[in-house]
Amino acid sequence: MKEHILILGGGVIGLSTAFSLSRRGYNVTILEKNSCGGQASGAAAGMLAPFSEISEDPDPFFKFCLDSLRMFREWQDEIKKISKSDFEYTESGSIHAVYHESDILSLESRIAWQKNFGSEAEIIDGDRLKSLEPNISDEVVAAIYSKEESHVFAPDYVKALKVACEKNGVTIYENLEDVHIKSWQQELVVQTTHGQSFTADRLVICSGAWTQQLESIFNIKIPVFPIRGQICAYELDNEKVNHIVTTSQGYLVPKSNGTLVNGASEDIAGFSTNVTEKGISRLIHWNKHILPFLKTKQPYHTWAGLRPATQDGFPLLGSLEESPHIIFATGHYRNGILLSPRTGEAVADLISGTPLDLYTKGAFHPERFS
Ligand code: FAD
Ligand code: GLY
Repeated sequence: MKEHILILGGGVIGLSTAFSLSRRGYNVTILEKNSCGGQASGAAAGMLAPFSEISEDPDPFFKFCLDSLRMFREWQDEIKKISKSDFEYTESGSIHAVYHESDILSLESRIAWQKNFGSEAEIIDGDRLKSLEPNISDEVVAAIYSKEESHVFAPDYVKALKVACEKNGVTIYENLEDVHIKSWQQELVVQTTHGQSFTADRLVICSGAWTQQLESIFNIKIPVFPIRGQICAYELDNEKVNHIVTTSQGYLVPKSNGTLVNGASEDIAGFSTNVTEKGISRLIHWNKHILPFLKTKQPYHTWAGLRPATQDGFPLLGSLEESPHIIFATGHYRNGILLSPRTGEAVADLISGTPLDLYTKGAFHPERFS
C-alpha cells in the first residue's frame, strides 16, 4: 500500500502536488478551507515568463522557474487529457519594452546571461518591433523579444487541475472553514471546526499567503507574507496584441477570449483582497505609454489576489530535518502558476525517496529562517 498524503491548501501548488503524487499511485487528500483556486491561483495573470520576471541574476529561483517553463507543454497536455477540460495555453512569446536609450545596456546584459540558459531572446526595435507588435507605442525605443515565454488562462487551468486530480482518485474537501493541525510529531492529526478528523503518513503544507499562521504549531520561523496584486482586464474590439508585453511598470497579456489582462500592483494590505481606486488607476495611467489605443478604454473587470511572498524571495520547499513527514511547498510569490509543474514533481520526488537538491543546497530549505 502506498502512503496516504494530506495536502493543506487547494491552490495551484496544492493541486499540482496532488496531481504529481496521484499519478505515482499515492493516496492523496486535499483539505481546503475555502474553495480550490479561490485565492491567488484563480487571480493570476497566468504568465509563464521567467525571463521577464527575473531580470537580475541567474539564481536558483530563476533555474527553478526555467525548468518549470520547459515542463509546461507536456504537463498541460496531460492535464487536458486526464481532465478532458480545456484551458488556454498559448506560446505567445513576450516583448519587454524600454523607453530610454540608456536602458538598452541593461537589456544587453540581461540577454547575455539568459543566452547561457538556452534563451533565443533578441533585442528588437524599429520596423521589426512594429511588425511583431503593431500597436506598441512609439515611445518604446527597444525591447527584448523572448519567443519561449507563454501563458495560461489561470482560472481555467486550476479548474482543470482539480478535475484531473479527482479523475486520478484524489479526495478533495472544500469549504472546511478552519483547518488546524492537532498533532504532528508522533501521530499526524488534522481537524476541522466541523469535527472531521484526518490522519495520514505525511502532510504537505501548500497554504500560500496564510502559511505564517502555522509558525506556533511547528515552532519555526515562517516569514511568508501576503502581497496584494490588483489587476484588471479590458475587452478588445479589433485591436491586435500578439505577445505578452511587459515594462518596468506592469504587464499586458492578451487572452484568446478577446480580453487583455493588465497587472499588477504590489501592496501591503494584510489579508484584504479589496480593489482600490489608487491601485487600478496607476495601471490605467501607465497603459497609454505601452499600447496607446488603451487611452480611450476602461477595464471591464478588476480584482485582486494575495501573493505568498517570502523574506528572501525564494519559496519554502522541502521537509523538516527532524520530521521528514512534514513538507513545505509554499511562498511562490509572483510565479506560482509557472512553478506548478516543477513544484509538484519536486514534492513527489522527495516523497518517493529522492532527496531534494534544488540547484543550491539549502536555498529553498523551509527551516532556513529559524
Ligand atoms: P493560493 O492560490 O493562495 O492557495 C493557497 C490555498 O490554501 C488557498 O486556497 C487557501 O484558502 C488555502 N489555505 C490557507 N490556509 C489553509 C489551512 N490552514 N487549511 C486549509 N487550507 C488553507 N504567477 C505566475 O506564475 N504567473 C502570473 O502571471 C501570475 N500573476 C499573478 C497576478 C496576481 C494579481 C497575483 C495576485 C498573483 C499572480 N501570480 C502569478 C502568483 C500566483 O498566483 C501565486 O504564486 C500562486 O497562485 C500561489 O499558489 P498557492 O497555491 O501557493 O496559493
Ligand atoms: N507574475 C505577475 C504578478 O505576480 O503580478
